[in-house]
Amino acid sequence: MQTVNVRLAERSYEVFIGSDMLGQPHAAFNIGSGATALVVTNDTVAPLYMDKLIKSLAGVNVHSLVLPDGETYKTQESWSKIIDALIEVRATRDATVITLGGGVIGDMGGFAAASYMRGINFIQVPTTLLAQVDASVGGKTGFNHPSGKNLVGAFHQPASVLVDIRTLDTLPDREFSAGLSEVVKIAAIRDAEFLSWLEEHARAIMAREPGSLTGMIKRSIENKAAVVAEDEREAGVRALLNFGHSFAHAVETLTGYRQFLHGEAVAMGMMVASRLSERRGLCEAGFSERLGNLLTLFDLPLMLPGNLDVDDILETMKLDKKVIAGSVRLILVKSAGQGLIDSASDKLQIKTAIEACQATD
Ligand SMILES: NC(=O)c1ccc[n+]([C@@H]2O[C@H](COP(=O)([O-])OP(=O)(O)OC[C@H]3O[C@@H](n4cnc5c(N)ncnc54)[C@H](O)[C@@H]3O)[C@@H](O)[C@H]2O)c1
Ligand SMILES: [Zn+2]
Repeated sequence: MQTVNVRLAERSYEVFIGSDMLGQPHAAFNIGSGATALVVTNDTVAPLYMDKLIKSLAGVNVHSLVLPDGETYKTQESWSKIIDALIEVRATRDATVITLGGGVIGDMGGFAAASYMRGINFIQVPTTLLAQVDASVGGKTGFNHPSGKNLVGAFHQPASVLVDIRTLDTLPDREFSAGLSEVVKIAAIRDAEFLSWLEEHARAIMAREPGSLTGMIKRSIENKAAVVAEDEREAGVRALLNFGHSFAHAVETLTGYRQFLHGEAVAMGMMVASRLSERRGLCEAGFSERLGNLLTLFDLPLMLPGNLDVDDILETMKLDKKVIAGSVRLILVKSAGQGLIDSASDKLQIKTAIEACQATD
C-alpha cells in the first residue's frame, strides 16, 4: 500500500492507494467504534462495492443512501436527500459521510458533509479513475444548478481518501480513458518526468497493469496534493489544474453534456491550449503533436466537433466562472511539464487555435 499526505495544517489527511483494501478493516476508516456513518453511493456502484465497504466498517453504526446514477442527478434535490438521510439516522456532529463512487457522488456527499451542522467529517472512497486521481483530493465539493456546473458548493477537505485500484476492474473503457485525460493534464502542467513516464508506460496503463496503475495514480495525487497544499482555495497556482478546461467546459455546455465525457472534452481543450501555446511562441514547437500522440494512445479524442460555431465557443468561454474581470484567463504551457496562467491571448489567436483543432466534417 502507498500513501500520499495532503499537507494542509490542521486539515491534513492521508490518501491510501492499494489493491484489495475494500472488504477488510482499514486505517482510512478510523472513525471510532459505535460512531455513525452514512455511506452515499449510486445504483451502479452499490451492487458492486457496497457489501465490501460495509465489511471494512465493522463496528461502525453504518447507514446507506443509494442515489440514481448520473451527472444529471448532481442536483440540489440529491443533496437534500443526503441531508434528509443524515437527519433520519440522527447524525450528530461526530458522524461521518462516506462517499463511494465517482466524482459526482464524491462532490455531492462532500458538500452534504460540508453543510450539515456547519460541517461534519467525510471520507472519500473514489471508484472511477477520474475521482481517484483528481476529484477525491483537494476538497472541492458541490452540485450543479440548471444555469451552471458546480455553481453551489464549498471547500471541505476529507478526513481520508481510500483508493482501491481493484474497483477499476469494473470501470468501462471509456470512463477509464476519461480519467487518463486528467492524468495527462497534471503531468503537462507540472511534471515533465511524469509526462515521459506516461509515454513509456502507455501500453501497460491501457492494459490496466496493477503496478503501473498504482504508480500513475500515486504520482498524479502527489502532484495534485502539492498544488492544493500551496493554494487550497485557488487564489493562484491551483488554477493551473484548469489546463484545457475553459475550452472543455464550452464544448460540454454547447453539446448539452451528452456527447462527451468531461475527460474527453478536456483532451480536446488541452489540444487547443497547447496549439495556442505554440502559436504564441510560449512553448517549443511540436509540443501539441507530442500531447496529441499520448492522448491518442489513451483512446481520447483530439478534435472538437466541426459543427460547433467558433463564436459560440468563445461566447460560452466568457461565461465560464473562471473569467476574471471580463478577460479570458487561460492556462497555457511554457514547456512540457510547466503550465502558466495567461491573460494576454487575444480573441483572434484563440479563435485560430480552436479552428485548427476542429474536425472538418
Ligand atoms: N472536486 C473536484 O476537484 C473535481 C475534479 C474533477 C471532477 N469533478 C467532478 O467529478 C464529476 C465527474 O466524475 P466521474 O468522471 O467520476 O463521473 P461519475 O461520478 O458520473 O462516474 C462515471 C460513471 O462510472 C460509474 N462508476 C463509478 N465507479 C464505477 C466502477 N468502479 N465500476 C463501474 N462503474 C463505475 C458511475 O456510476 C458513473 O456512471 C463531475 O461532476 C465533475 O464536476 C470534481
Ligand atoms: Zn477536470
